[in-house]
Amino acid sequence: MAEELKLATGIDKTEIYKSLLPQLEALVSGEPDLTANLANLAAALREAFGWWWVGFYLVKQDNLVLGPFQGPIACTRIARGKGVCGTVWAERKSLLVPDVNSFSGHIACSSSSVSEIVVPIFEKQQQVMGVLDVDSERYDVLDETDMLYLEKISRLITKLL
Ligand code: SME
Repeated sequence: MAEELKLATGIDKTEIYKSLLPQLEALVSGEPDLTANLANLAAALREAFGWWWVGFYLVKQDNLVLGPFQGPIACTRIARGKGVCGTVWAERKSLLVPDVNSFSGHIACSSSSVSEIVVPIFEKQQQVMGVLDVDSERYDVLDETDMLYLEKISRLITKLL
């Protein structure tokens, strides 16, 4: 495992993701512990993009429970169908929310977070086992490119299970 990330410089996020993805694969390969891998993935994503909050919620019985993350403290439990995360769990597809004020039922863990992307993470049997949640304190940061690459990272996690 490399000791530090080597990231493409500049403002083209596709280039940053392209340089990041193989490093994320190397970071988690050979490590069977899910918590350790999710913790490193959250740290690597925060380091690469400087988002306000990035982390995981994991399905435990009837709730999503807070998992490894980087950023301010957050809500610990989210019911299925509630908020952006619980909606992604119920509907099994990613959501890009450019303005959280326009998402009815959004759960505000922090009033600084104004936009967000949540992508589902599937078990090999296609059940949702958790979500990857990215929050920004800016309106113009998160877009379809992030969703595309965050879904690739979600598939990387499924491969590890
Ligand atoms: N905003 C999320 C809750 C999680 S926090 O933002 C970290 C939601 O509505 O599901």
